[in-house]
Amino acid sequence: MLYVVGIGPGGEKYFTRESEEVLKSVDLIVCYSGYRKYIERFRKEVYTTGMKKEIERVRYALKEAEKRDVALVSSGDATIYGMASLVYELAEKDNCKVPIKVVSGVTAASISSAILGAPLNHDFVVVSLSDLLTPLEVILRRVRCALEGDFVLVLYNPLSRSRREPFLRTVEIIREYGEKRGVDYIVGIVKNGGREGEEYRITTIGDICSNLDKYMKFIDMNTTVIVGNSNTKVICNKMVTPRGYLDKYKV
Ligand SMILES: C[S@@+](CC[C@H](N)C(=O)[O-])C[C@H]1O[C@@H](n2cnc3c(N)ncnc32)[C@H](O)[C@@H]1O
Repeated sequence: MLYVVGIGPGGEKYFTRESEEVLKSVDLIVCYSGYRKYIERFRKEVYTTGMKKEIERVRYALKEAEKRDVALVSSGDATIYGMASLVYELAEKDNCKVPIKVVSGVTAASISSAILGAPLNHDFVVVSLSDLLTPLEVILRRVRCALEGDFVLVLYNPLSRSRREPFLRTVEIIREYGEKRGVDYIVGIVKNGGREGEEYRITTIGDICSNLDKYMKFIDMNTTVIVGNSNTKVICNKMVTPRGYLDKYKV
């Protein structure tokens, strides 16, 4: 059996009970080398590979799962920019008949939303700014569509040392939309949410554009950025997107 297990952001308290039970029960855990520290406490045989070795990792997990119970670990939720889709695609391609079960986990959007307050309390869109597997023009079109629809926008993979252009162009598009609508969008930034080194900032797109260097030093690949909609507010120093109750019930 192959379990594809989301372990949340890393901190022990964010593992679901189901993921704990599965990781305790399996014979082998397969994961990205950077996540070894999160699963060592299960004292299992561990197989790791580094960045960009996802295909090798998944094939190994599928092969081993023909003989024993294996957990392939993904951070956050395995079905959100995680390993789950690749598992199904390779199983089909390699004609592998191993039973597969996905175990859901707490995704970065969810942990970040709670840290910031309640920014995702209305319709939202999630876009990854990584152009490794998706052309930049497709990413930017999706960002524009989200802004056009006045969705709250969650940005995964916002910025890395070698990938600055997607972030710079996205910030510029958000600023332009804000200017057109007369809104300085509230922006929440969460780094290392739910794990050691957790930090967050709540600011506006105008402030980010005026202090780009400062924010580009802060934001990294362990960061999620949430851009509010035109109705998002700062309440009690937290970022809040109203659901509409006060307007509806005239409170
Ligand atoms: C390849 S995606 C994986 C997402 C993961 N499957 C999930 O559901 O959270 C990696 C991106 O998730 C976000 N992320 C992952 N862990 C995070 C954390 N602890 N705090 C903030 N953002 C995080 C960052 O945007 C990072 O670049």
